[in-house]
Amino acid sequence: MRVLCCILAAGLAVAFVTASIADWSASVMRKLPEDLKLGVATAAFQIEGGWNAADKSESIWDTFCRIPGNIKDGTDGNDTCKSYEFYQRDIQMLKFLGVNFYRFSISWPRVLPNGFANKISEVGLGYYSRLVDELLANGIEPVVTIYHWDLPQNLQDLGGWANPLIADWFEDYARVLFDALGDRVKTWVTINEPKQFAIYGYGMKLCAPNIVSAGIGDYLAVKNLLVAHARVWHLYDKEYRPKQKGTIGIVIATDYREGATDSPEDIEAGKVAFDFEVGFYSHPIFSTTGGLPERVVKRVAERSAQQGFPRSRLPEFTPEEIEYIKGTSDFFGFNHYSTLFYTANSYKPGMYEIPSYNDDIGAVGTYGTYVTTSVPHTTKIPTGIRKALNWVKDSYNNPEIMIFENGFGNLGGNNDIDRIDYYIAYLDAILDAIEVDGCNITRYTAWSLMDNFEWMSGLSVKFGLFEVDYNDDKRTRTARASALWFKNLIATRTLNTDYEPQLREVTF
Ligand SMILES: *[C@@H]1O[C@H](CO)[C@@H](O)[C@H](O)[C@H]1NC(C)=O
Ligand SMILES: *[C@@H]1O[C@H](CO)[C@@H](O)[C@H](O)[C@H]1NC(C)=O
Repeated sequence: MRVLCCILAAGLAVAFVTASIADWSASVMRKLPEDLKLGVATAAFQIEGGWNAADKSESIWDTFCRIPGNIKDGTDGNDTCKSYEFYQRDIQMLKFLGVNFYRFSISWPRVLPNGFANKISEVGLGYYSRLVDELLANGIEPVVTIYHWDLPQNLQDLGGWANPLIADWFEDYARVLFDALGDRVKTWVTINEPKQFAIYGYGMKLCAPNIVSAGIGDYLAVKNLLVAHARVWHLYDKEYRPKQKGTIGIVIATDYREGATDSPEDIEAGKVAFDFEVGFYSHPIFSTTGGLPERVVKRVAERSAQQGFPRSRLPEFTPEEIEYIKGTSDFFGFNHYSTLFYTANSYKPGMYEIPSYNDDIGAVGTYGTYVTTSVPHTTKIPTGIRKALNWVKDSYNNPEIMIFENGFGNLGGNNDIDRIDYYIAYLDAILDAIEVDGCNITRYTAWSLMDNFEWMSGLSVKFGLFEVDYNDDKRTRTARASALWFKNLIATRTLNTDYEPQLREVTF
Protein backbone atom coordinates (compact mmCIF):
# COMPACT_ATOMS: atom_id res chain seq x y z
CA MET A 1 0.00 0.00 0.00
CA ARG A 2 1.20 3.49 -0.77
CA VAL A 3 -0.04 6.61 0.97
CA LEU A 4 0.71 10.09 -0.12
CA CYS A 5 2.21 11.79 2.87
CA CYS A 6 2.54 15.49 3.46
CA ILE A 7 4.38 15.77 6.72
CA LEU A 8 2.89 18.95 8.10
CA ALA A 9 2.39 18.24 11.78
CA ALA A 10 4.45 16.36 14.31
CA GLY A 11 1.52 14.04 15.02
CA LEU A 12 1.38 13.00 11.41
CA ALA A 13 5.11 12.46 11.31
CA VAL A 14 4.93 10.10 14.27
CA ALA A 15 2.15 8.10 12.62
CA PHE A 16 4.26 7.95 9.49
CA VAL A 17 7.34 6.62 11.31
CA THR A 18 5.28 3.94 13.06
CA ALA A 19 3.85 2.80 9.76
CA SER A 20 7.29 2.63 8.23
CA ILE A 21 8.66 0.46 11.02
CA ALA A 22 5.68 -1.87 10.82
CA ASP A 23 6.23 -2.27 7.06
CA TRP A 24 9.98 -2.56 7.28
CA SER A 25 10.19 -6.27 6.58
CA ALA A 26 8.27 -5.78 3.33
CA SER A 27 10.52 -3.10 1.93
CA VAL A 28 13.35 -3.91 -0.42
CA MET A 29 16.23 -1.57 -1.08
CA ARG A 30 17.96 -2.32 -4.36
CA LYS A 31 21.16 -0.53 -5.32
CA LEU A 32 21.22 0.55 -8.98
CA PRO A 33 24.18 -0.73 -11.03
CA GLU A 34 26.95 1.89 -11.10
CA ASP A 35 27.00 2.14 -14.89
CA LEU A 36 23.22 2.64 -15.30
CA LYS A 37 22.64 6.27 -16.32
CA LEU A 38 19.32 7.90 -15.45
CA GLY A 39 17.51 10.51 -17.52
CA VAL A 40 14.22 11.87 -18.81
CA ALA A 41 12.92 12.36 -22.34
CA THR A 42 10.80 14.75 -24.41
CA ALA A 43 10.23 15.37 -28.13
CA ALA A 44 10.28 18.65 -30.07
CA PHE A 45 6.70 18.76 -31.32
CA GLN A 46 5.35 17.72 -27.93
CA ILE A 47 6.99 20.49 -25.89
CA GLU A 48 8.42 23.32 -27.98
CA GLY A 49 5.50 25.29 -29.33
CA GLY A 50 6.91 28.18 -31.40
CA TRP A 51 5.29 26.54 -34.40
CA ASN A 52 6.02 29.55 -36.65
CA ALA A 53 8.92 31.17 -34.78
CA ALA A 54 11.50 32.83 -37.05
CA ASP A 55 11.66 30.93 -40.34
CA LYS A 56 10.30 27.58 -39.13
CA SER A 57 7.97 25.91 -41.62
CA GLU A 58 5.09 23.61 -40.80
CA SER A 59 5.52 19.95 -40.01
CA ILE A 60 3.07 17.18 -40.81
CA TRP A 61 1.88 17.38 -37.20
CA ASP A 62 1.05 21.09 -37.54
CA THR A 63 -1.06 20.13 -40.54
CA PHE A 64 -2.63 17.10 -38.88
CA CYS A 65 -3.69 19.04 -35.77
CA ARG A 66 -5.48 21.68 -37.85
CA ILE A 67 -8.00 19.15 -39.18
CA PRO A 68 -11.00 18.96 -36.84
CA GLY A 69 -11.50 15.52 -35.32
CA ASN A 70 -7.88 14.37 -35.58
CA ILE A 71 -6.94 15.35 -32.01
CA LYS A 72 -9.31 14.03 -29.37
CA ASP A 73 -9.50 17.20 -27.27
CA GLY A 74 -9.18 19.59 -30.22
CA THR A 75 -5.83 20.99 -29.05
CA ASP A 76 -2.73 21.50 -31.21
CA GLY A 77 1.03 21.92 -31.01
CA ASN A 78 1.13 25.68 -31.57
CA ASP A 79 2.34 26.44 -28.03
CA THR A 80 2.24 23.29 -25.83
CA CYS A 81 4.84 23.77 -23.04
CA LYS A 82 6.51 26.75 -24.76
CA SER A 83 9.89 25.15 -24.30
CA TYR A 84 11.15 26.98 -27.38
CA GLU A 85 10.73 30.15 -25.36
CA PHE A 86 11.46 28.83 -21.85
CA TYR A 87 14.04 26.09 -22.42
CA GLN A 88 16.28 27.42 -19.67
CA ARG A 89 13.59 26.59 -17.17
CA ASP A 90 13.55 23.00 -18.46
CA ILE A 91 17.26 22.83 -17.69
CA GLN A 92 16.60 24.03 -14.14
CA MET A 93 14.02 21.24 -13.74
CA LEU A 94 16.55 18.70 -15.04
CA LYS A 95 19.09 19.99 -12.54
CA PHE A 96 16.55 19.74 -9.76
CA LEU A 97 15.97 16.08 -10.63
CA GLY A 98 19.70 15.47 -10.88
CA VAL A 99 19.52 13.49 -14.14
CA ASN A 100 22.65 12.23 -15.90
CA PHE A 101 21.23 12.94 -19.36
CA TYR A 102 18.34 14.59 -21.19
CA ARG A 103 16.89 12.99 -24.32
CA PHE A 104 15.21 15.55 -26.60
CA SER A 105 14.52 15.71 -30.33
CA ILE A 106 15.22 18.22 -33.09
CA SER A 107 12.48 19.66 -35.26
CA TRP A 108 13.48 19.11 -38.91
CA PRO A 109 11.39 22.07 -40.24
CA ARG A 110 12.88 24.38 -37.58
CA VAL A 111 16.42 23.61 -38.76
CA LEU A 112 15.69 23.20 -42.49
CA PRO A 113 12.63 25.33 -43.35
CA ASN A 114 12.64 24.01 -46.93
CA GLY A 115 13.00 20.43 -45.74
CA PHE A 116 16.08 20.30 -47.96
CA ALA A 117 19.59 21.25 -46.85
CA ASN A 118 19.93 24.13 -49.30
CA LYS A 119 18.85 26.54 -46.57
CA ILE A 120 19.84 26.15 -42.92
CA SER A 121 17.98 28.26 -40.37
CA GLU A 122 20.54 30.10 -38.24
CA VAL A 123 17.88 30.81 -35.64
CA GLY A 124 16.57 27.25 -35.55
CA LEU A 125 19.97 25.61 -35.35
CA GLY A 126 21.09 28.27 -32.86
CA TYR A 127 18.29 27.25 -30.52
CA TYR A 128 19.51 23.65 -30.35
CA SER A 129 23.13 24.71 -30.11
CA ARG A 130 22.37 26.86 -27.05
CA LEU A 131 20.31 24.07 -25.52
CA VAL A 132 23.23 21.66 -25.91
CA ASP A 133 25.72 24.20 -24.50
CA GLU A 134 23.60 24.98 -21.48
CA LEU A 135 22.90 21.32 -20.74
CA LEU A 136 26.63 20.60 -20.79
CA ALA A 137 27.37 23.65 -18.65
CA ASN A 138 24.97 22.19 -16.09
CA GLY A 139 26.56 18.76 -16.17
CA ILE A 140 23.74 17.11 -18.15
CA GLU A 141 24.57 14.96 -21.16
CA PRO A 142 22.47 15.71 -24.29
CA VAL A 143 21.00 12.66 -26.06
CA VAL A 144 19.55 13.79 -29.37
CA THR A 145 16.81 12.20 -31.47
CA ILE A 146 17.11 13.27 -35.10
CA TYR A 147 13.58 12.27 -36.13
CA HIS A 148 10.68 12.13 -33.68
CA TRP A 149 7.78 12.29 -36.18
CA ASP A 150 7.62 15.96 -37.25
CA LEU A 151 8.51 15.74 -40.95
CA PRO A 152 8.50 19.04 -42.91
CA GLN A 153 5.12 19.26 -44.65
CA ASN A 154 6.70 20.06 -48.02
CA LEU A 155 8.56 16.73 -47.99
CA GLN A 156 5.26 15.03 -47.23
CA ASP A 157 3.80 16.74 -50.28
CA LEU A 158 6.36 14.69 -52.23
CA GLY A 159 5.33 11.46 -50.53
CA GLY A 160 7.27 11.69 -47.28
CA TRP A 161 8.42 8.29 -46.01
CA ALA A 162 6.66 6.56 -48.93
CA ASN A 163 9.14 8.17 -51.34
CA PRO A 164 12.49 6.29 -51.45
CA LEU A 165 14.27 9.64 -51.92
CA ILE A 166 13.57 10.25 -48.21
CA ALA A 167 16.88 8.44 -47.59
CA ASP A 168 18.73 11.26 -49.39
CA TRP A 169 16.79 14.00 -47.63
CA PHE A 170 17.22 12.38 -44.23
CA GLU A 171 20.95 11.92 -44.77
CA ASP A 172 21.36 15.58 -45.78
CA TYR A 173 19.46 16.70 -42.68
CA ALA A 174 21.51 14.46 -40.38
CA ARG A 175 24.75 15.79 -41.87
CA VAL A 176 23.72 19.34 -40.94
CA LEU A 177 23.18 18.21 -37.34
CA PHE A 178 26.44 16.23 -37.10
CA ASP A 179 28.35 19.23 -38.51
CA ALA A 180 26.73 21.71 -36.14
CA LEU A 181 26.32 19.71 -32.92
CA GLY A 182 28.43 16.57 -33.22
CA ASP A 183 31.39 18.16 -31.46
CA ARG A 184 29.24 18.22 -28.29
CA VAL A 185 26.53 15.57 -28.82
CA LYS A 186 27.89 12.04 -28.38
CA THR A 187 24.72 9.95 -28.31
CA TRP A 188 22.37 10.11 -31.30
CA VAL A 189 19.08 8.43 -32.08
CA THR A 190 18.27 8.29 -35.79
CA ILE A 191 14.56 7.52 -35.65
CA ASN A 192 12.11 7.17 -32.77
CA GLU A 193 9.47 4.40 -32.84
CA PRO A 194 9.20 3.62 -36.56
CA LYS A 195 6.01 1.57 -36.28
CA GLN A 196 4.10 4.37 -34.64
CA PHE A 197 4.58 6.83 -37.47
CA ALA A 198 4.71 4.39 -40.41
CA ILE A 199 1.82 2.08 -39.57
CA TYR A 200 -0.33 4.62 -37.67
CA GLY A 201 0.50 7.39 -40.14
CA TYR A 202 0.14 5.63 -43.49
CA GLY A 203 -2.35 2.91 -42.66
CA MET A 204 -4.47 3.52 -39.60
CA LYS A 205 -5.55 7.17 -39.72
CA LEU A 206 -4.20 7.69 -36.21
CA CYS A 207 -1.14 9.84 -36.80
CA ALA A 208 0.26 12.38 -39.23
CA PRO A 209 0.53 12.34 -42.21
CA ASN A 210 -2.79 10.48 -42.18
CA ILE A 211 -2.25 8.78 -45.52
CA VAL A 212 -4.95 6.19 -46.08
CA SER A 213 -3.10 3.26 -47.63
CA ALA A 214 -3.53 0.35 -45.22
CA GLY A 215 -1.37 -2.68 -45.89
CA ILE A 216 0.49 -0.93 -48.72
CA GLY A 217 1.67 2.64 -48.02
CA ASP A 218 2.53 1.74 -44.42
CA TYR A 219 4.84 -1.05 -45.63
CA LEU A 220 6.49 1.26 -48.16
CA ALA A 221 7.21 3.69 -45.32
CA VAL A 222 8.72 0.88 -43.23
CA LYS A 223 11.10 -0.15 -45.98
CA ASN A 224 12.16 3.41 -46.75
CA LEU A 225 12.70 4.36 -43.13
CA LEU A 226 14.92 1.30 -42.57
CA VAL A 227 17.07 2.29 -45.55
CA ALA A 228 17.11 5.95 -44.44
CA HIS A 229 18.11 4.98 -40.90
CA ALA A 230 20.94 2.82 -42.28
CA ARG A 231 22.14 5.68 -44.51
CA VAL A 232 22.51 7.96 -41.51
CA TRP A 233 24.26 5.29 -39.43
CA HIS A 234 26.74 4.67 -42.27
CA LEU A 235 27.26 8.41 -42.71
CA TYR A 236 28.10 8.81 -39.04
CA ASP A 237 30.19 5.66 -38.94
CA LYS A 238 32.35 6.59 -41.93
CA GLU A 239 32.64 10.34 -41.80
CA TYR A 240 31.90 11.50 -38.26
CA ARG A 241 32.69 8.75 -35.80
CA PRO A 242 36.46 8.91 -36.40
CA LYS A 243 36.57 12.51 -35.17
CA GLN A 244 33.45 12.87 -33.02
CA LYS A 245 33.69 9.45 -31.36
CA GLY A 246 30.01 9.16 -30.51
CA THR A 247 27.42 6.43 -30.66
CA ILE A 248 24.27 6.21 -32.81
CA GLY A 249 21.29 3.88 -33.05
CA ILE A 250 17.58 3.44 -33.57
CA VAL A 251 14.81 3.42 -30.93
CA ILE A 252 12.10 0.77 -31.28
CA ALA A 253 8.84 0.57 -29.34
CA THR A 254 9.35 -2.80 -27.71
CA ASP A 255 6.06 -3.35 -25.91
CA TYR A 256 5.68 -7.07 -25.28
CA ARG A 257 3.24 -9.41 -27.04
CA GLU A 258 2.58 -13.01 -26.06
CA GLY A 259 -0.02 -15.75 -26.31
CA ALA A 260 -2.95 -15.41 -23.91
CA THR A 261 -2.87 -19.14 -23.12
CA ASP A 262 -0.39 -22.00 -23.48
CA SER A 263 -2.16 -23.40 -26.54
CA PRO A 264 0.20 -23.70 -29.54
CA GLU A 265 -2.14 -21.49 -31.60
CA ASP A 266 -2.08 -18.68 -29.05
CA ILE A 267 1.67 -18.96 -28.50
CA GLU A 268 2.17 -18.67 -32.25
CA ALA A 269 -0.29 -15.73 -32.43
CA GLY A 270 1.79 -13.93 -29.79
CA LYS A 271 4.97 -14.58 -31.77
CA VAL A 272 3.41 -13.34 -34.99
CA ALA A 273 2.25 -10.17 -33.27
CA PHE A 274 5.67 -9.56 -31.70
CA ASP A 275 7.41 -10.09 -35.05
CA PHE A 276 5.09 -7.57 -36.71
CA GLU A 277 5.33 -5.03 -33.90
CA VAL A 278 9.04 -5.28 -33.05
CA GLY A 279 10.90 -7.78 -35.25
CA PHE A 280 9.82 -5.87 -38.37
CA TYR A 281 12.28 -3.14 -37.32
CA SER A 282 14.79 -4.97 -35.15
CA HIS A 283 15.42 -8.08 -37.26
CA PRO A 284 16.81 -6.23 -40.32
CA ILE A 285 19.21 -4.30 -38.08
CA PHE A 286 20.18 -6.61 -35.21
CA SER A 287 19.87 -10.21 -36.46
CA THR A 288 22.87 -12.04 -37.90
CA THR A 289 20.93 -12.90 -41.08
CA GLY A 290 19.39 -9.44 -41.61
CA GLY A 291 16.14 -8.98 -43.51
CA LEU A 292 12.56 -9.06 -42.30
CA PRO A 293 11.23 -11.77 -39.95
CA GLU A 294 10.07 -14.86 -41.85
CA ARG A 295 6.62 -14.84 -40.24
CA VAL A 296 5.99 -11.32 -41.50
CA VAL A 297 7.20 -12.02 -45.04
CA LYS A 298 5.22 -15.25 -45.29
CA ARG A 299 1.93 -13.92 -43.91
CA VAL A 300 1.85 -10.77 -46.03
CA ALA A 301 2.78 -12.77 -49.15
CA GLU A 302 0.04 -15.35 -48.50
CA ARG A 303 -2.64 -12.81 -47.81
CA SER A 304 -1.61 -10.64 -50.76
CA ALA A 305 -1.98 -13.69 -53.05
CA GLN A 306 -5.42 -14.51 -51.56
CA GLN A 307 -6.44 -10.92 -52.13
CA GLY A 308 -5.52 -11.04 -55.82
CA PHE A 309 -2.33 -8.98 -55.70
CA PRO A 310 0.15 -10.16 -58.34
CA ARG A 311 2.98 -9.62 -55.84
CA SER A 312 3.34 -9.26 -52.08
CA ARG A 313 2.22 -5.91 -50.68
CA LEU A 314 5.41 -6.00 -48.63
CA PRO A 315 8.23 -4.48 -50.68
CA GLU A 316 11.21 -6.75 -51.17
CA PHE A 317 14.69 -5.92 -49.96
CA THR A 318 17.51 -6.69 -52.36
CA PRO A 319 20.44 -8.74 -50.98
CA GLU A 320 22.48 -5.51 -51.11
CA GLU A 321 19.88 -3.66 -49.07
CA ILE A 322 19.76 -6.46 -46.51
CA GLU A 323 23.54 -6.32 -46.09
CA TYR A 324 23.50 -2.51 -45.99
CA ILE A 325 20.93 -2.35 -43.15
CA LYS A 326 22.38 -5.18 -41.07
CA GLY A 327 24.39 -4.08 -38.04
CA THR A 328 23.46 -0.39 -38.29
CA SER A 329 22.80 0.39 -34.63
CA ASP A 330 25.41 0.76 -31.89
CA PHE A 331 22.82 -0.08 -29.21
CA PHE A 332 19.24 -1.34 -28.97
CA GLY A 333 17.13 1.74 -28.20
CA PHE A 334 14.20 0.34 -26.25
CA ASN A 335 10.90 2.07 -25.43
CA HIS A 336 8.35 0.17 -23.39
CA TYR A 337 4.95 0.83 -21.85
CA SER A 338 2.91 -2.38 -21.59
CA THR A 339 2.06 -5.88 -22.89
CA LEU A 340 -0.75 -7.37 -24.97
CA PHE A 341 -1.93 -11.00 -24.86
CA TYR A 342 -3.04 -12.64 -28.12
CA THR A 343 -5.62 -15.27 -28.88
CA ALA A 344 -5.72 -16.84 -32.32
CA ASN A 345 -9.33 -18.00 -32.44
CA SER A 346 -10.94 -14.70 -31.40
CA TYR A 347 -9.96 -13.24 -34.76
CA LYS A 348 -12.61 -13.21 -37.46
CA PRO A 349 -11.69 -12.06 -40.95
CA GLY A 350 -13.48 -8.77 -41.47
CA MET A 351 -12.81 -7.47 -37.95
CA TYR A 352 -10.25 -5.21 -39.57
CA GLU A 353 -10.04 -3.52 -42.92
CA ILE A 354 -8.76 -5.78 -45.74
CA PRO A 355 -5.99 -5.41 -46.59
CA SER A 356 -4.42 -3.94 -43.48
CA TYR A 357 -1.62 -4.43 -40.99
CA ASN A 358 -4.01 -5.74 -38.32
CA ASP A 359 -5.61 -8.17 -40.75
CA ASP A 360 -2.14 -9.36 -41.74
CA ILE A 361 -1.40 -10.10 -38.06
CA GLY A 362 -4.71 -11.97 -37.92
CA ALA A 363 -5.05 -12.18 -34.13
CA VAL A 364 -6.52 -10.02 -31.38
CA GLY A 365 -4.56 -8.61 -28.44
CA THR A 366 -6.00 -7.58 -25.06
CA TYR A 367 -4.71 -6.64 -21.61
CA GLY A 368 -6.19 -9.88 -20.28
CA THR A 369 -7.11 -9.71 -16.60
CA TYR A 370 -4.90 -6.70 -15.90
CA VAL A 371 -6.62 -3.54 -14.74
CA THR A 372 -6.49 -0.91 -17.44
CA THR A 373 -6.64 2.76 -16.45
CA SER A 374 -7.53 5.91 -18.37
CA VAL A 375 -4.54 5.42 -20.67
CA PRO A 376 -4.77 1.69 -21.49
CA HIS A 377 -1.47 1.46 -23.34
CA THR A 378 0.34 2.09 -20.06
CA THR A 379 -1.39 -0.78 -18.22
CA LYS A 380 1.00 -1.93 -15.48
CA ILE A 381 2.38 -5.39 -16.42
CA PRO A 382 5.99 -5.33 -15.20
CA THR A 383 6.65 -8.99 -16.08
CA GLY A 384 6.32 -7.89 -19.73
CA ILE A 385 9.29 -5.53 -19.68
CA ARG A 386 11.55 -8.25 -18.28
CA LYS A 387 10.40 -10.65 -21.01
CA ALA A 388 10.91 -8.04 -23.73
CA LEU A 389 14.41 -7.24 -22.46
CA ASN A 390 15.24 -10.95 -22.43
CA TRP A 391 13.85 -11.36 -25.93
CA VAL A 392 16.28 -8.69 -27.14
CA LYS A 393 19.16 -10.29 -25.25
CA ASP A 394 18.43 -13.80 -26.52
CA SER A 395 17.57 -12.86 -30.11
CA TYR A 396 20.49 -10.53 -30.76
CA ASN A 397 23.43 -11.84 -28.73
CA ASN A 398 23.05 -9.59 -25.69
CA PRO A 399 23.42 -6.13 -27.23
CA GLU A 400 23.78 -2.98 -25.18
CA ILE A 401 20.24 -1.82 -24.40
CA MET A 402 19.35 1.79 -23.73
CA ILE A 403 15.86 2.13 -22.28
CA PHE A 404 14.85 5.45 -23.81
CA GLU A 405 11.19 5.65 -22.75
CA ASN A 406 9.10 4.16 -19.98
CA GLY A 407 6.26 5.87 -18.19
CA PHE A 408 2.67 6.07 -17.08
CA GLY A 409 -0.18 8.15 -18.48
CA ASN A 410 -3.23 9.43 -16.64
CA LEU A 411 -5.60 12.38 -16.75
CA GLY A 412 -3.81 14.54 -14.19
CA GLY A 413 -3.41 15.20 -10.49
CA ASN A 414 -0.22 15.90 -8.58
CA ASN A 415 -0.57 13.12 -6.01
CA ASP A 416 0.39 10.61 -8.67
CA ILE A 417 0.95 7.52 -6.56
CA ASP A 418 -0.28 5.44 -9.52
CA ARG A 419 2.65 6.72 -11.57
CA ILE A 420 5.17 6.07 -8.79
CA ASP A 421 3.76 2.57 -8.34
CA TYR A 422 4.22 1.89 -12.05
CA TYR A 423 7.80 3.21 -12.09
CA ILE A 424 8.82 1.20 -9.03
CA ALA A 425 7.34 -2.02 -10.39
CA TYR A 426 9.01 -1.58 -13.78
CA LEU A 427 12.40 -0.66 -12.32
CA ASP A 428 12.21 -3.68 -10.03
CA ALA A 429 11.66 -5.88 -13.10
CA ILE A 430 14.48 -4.10 -14.97
CA LEU A 431 16.88 -4.75 -12.08
CA ASP A 432 15.91 -8.44 -12.27
CA ALA A 433 16.67 -8.37 -16.00
CA ILE A 434 20.11 -6.92 -15.26
CA GLU A 435 21.10 -8.83 -12.13
CA VAL A 436 19.39 -12.18 -12.64
CA ASP A 437 19.18 -12.47 -16.43
CA GLY A 438 22.35 -10.63 -17.47
CA CYS A 439 20.79 -8.06 -19.81
CA ASN A 440 23.22 -5.24 -20.63
CA ILE A 441 21.17 -2.13 -19.86
CA THR A 442 23.12 1.11 -19.69
CA ARG A 443 20.40 3.81 -19.59
CA TYR A 444 16.97 4.23 -18.07
CA THR A 445 14.78 7.10 -19.27
CA ALA A 446 11.51 8.24 -17.75
CA TRP A 447 8.88 9.51 -20.17
CA SER A 448 8.39 12.35 -19.56
CA LEU A 449 10.04 15.35 -17.93
CA MET A 450 6.69 17.16 -18.00
CA ASP A 451 3.18 16.96 -19.38
CA ASN A 452 3.15 17.62 -23.11
CA PHE A 453 1.23 17.23 -26.35
CA GLU A 454 0.40 13.53 -26.40
CA TRP A 455 -0.16 13.20 -30.17
CA MET A 456 -3.73 12.17 -31.04
CA SER A 457 -4.76 12.49 -27.37
CA GLY A 458 -3.74 16.14 -27.33
CA LEU A 459 -3.03 17.89 -24.03
CA SER A 460 -5.55 15.92 -21.98
CA VAL A 461 -3.35 12.90 -21.33
CA LYS A 462 -0.53 13.49 -18.83
CA PHE A 463 2.81 11.71 -18.64
CA GLY A 464 4.82 14.34 -16.75
CA LEU A 465 6.94 14.13 -13.65
CA PHE A 466 6.09 17.84 -13.69
CA GLU A 467 2.61 19.18 -14.28
CA VAL A 468 2.30 21.99 -16.83
CA ASP A 469 -0.34 24.69 -16.35
CA TYR A 470 -1.63 25.31 -19.88
CA ASN A 471 -3.94 28.08 -18.67
CA ASP A 472 -0.96 30.10 -17.56
CA ASP A 473 0.82 32.10 -20.25
CA LYS A 474 4.15 31.18 -18.69
CA ARG A 475 3.24 27.49 -18.59
CA THR A 476 4.36 27.18 -14.96
CA ARG A 477 5.57 23.68 -14.13
CA THR A 478 4.86 22.06 -10.75
CA ALA A 479 6.62 18.98 -9.42
CA ARG A 480 4.38 15.99 -8.94
CA ALA A 481 5.02 13.42 -6.21
CA SER A 482 6.65 11.34 -8.95
CA ALA A 483 9.22 14.09 -9.62
CA LEU A 484 10.24 13.99 -5.97
CA TRP A 485 10.38 10.19 -6.12
CA PHE A 486 12.60 10.26 -9.23
CA LYS A 487 14.86 12.89 -7.64
CA ASN A 488 15.22 10.64 -4.60
CA LEU A 489 15.96 7.60 -6.77
CA ILE A 490 18.75 9.47 -8.54
CA ALA A 491 20.19 10.95 -5.33
CA THR A 492 20.24 7.64 -3.46
CA ARG A 493 20.75 5.42 -6.52
CA THR A 494 18.60 2.97 -4.62
CA LEU A 495 15.20 1.60 -5.57
CA ASN A 496 13.08 1.50 -2.42
CA THR A 497 10.13 -0.71 -3.31
CA ASP A 498 8.34 0.54 -0.19
CA TYR A 499 8.88 4.24 -0.89
CA GLU A 500 6.40 6.55 0.83
CA PRO A 501 5.35 9.23 -1.69
CA GLN A 502 5.66 12.82 -0.57
CA LEU A 503 4.54 16.09 -1.99
CA ARG A 504 5.86 19.57 -1.47
CA GLU A 505 5.45 22.75 -3.45
CA VAL A 506 8.15 23.03 -6.12
CA THR A 507 7.45 25.18 -9.18
CA PHE A 508 9.45 26.39 -12.14
C1 LIG B 1 -2.78 27.47 -34.17
O1 LIG B 1 -2.39 28.17 -35.32
C2 LIG B 1 -3.29 28.05 -36.42
C3 LIG B 1 -2.68 28.75 -37.62
O2 LIG B 1 -2.55 30.11 -37.36
C4 LIG B 1 -4.65 28.59 -36.04
O3 LIG B 1 -5.55 28.39 -37.10
C5 LIG B 1 -5.15 27.89 -34.79
O4 LIG B 1 -6.35 28.47 -34.36
C6 LIG B 1 -4.12 28.01 -33.68
N1 LIG B 1 -4.54 27.25 -32.52
C7 LIG B 1 -4.87 27.83 -31.38
C8 LIG B 1 -5.28 26.91 -30.26
O5 LIG B 1 -4.82 29.02 -31.19
C1 LIG C 1 27.62 -3.73 -22.23
O1 LIG C 1 27.79 -3.03 -23.42
C2 LIG C 1 28.87 -2.11 -23.38
C3 LIG C 1 28.86 -1.35 -24.69
O2 LIG C 1 28.90 -2.22 -25.76
C4 LIG C 1 30.17 -2.86 -23.17
O3 LIG C 1 31.23 -1.94 -23.09
C5 LIG C 1 30.07 -3.66 -21.89
O4 LIG C 1 31.21 -4.45 -21.74
C6 LIG C 1 28.85 -4.55 -21.90
N1 LIG C 1 28.69 -5.14 -20.59
C7 LIG C 1 28.39 -6.41 -20.43
C8 LIG C 1 28.21 -6.85 -19.01
O5 LIG C 1 28.27 -7.19 -21.35
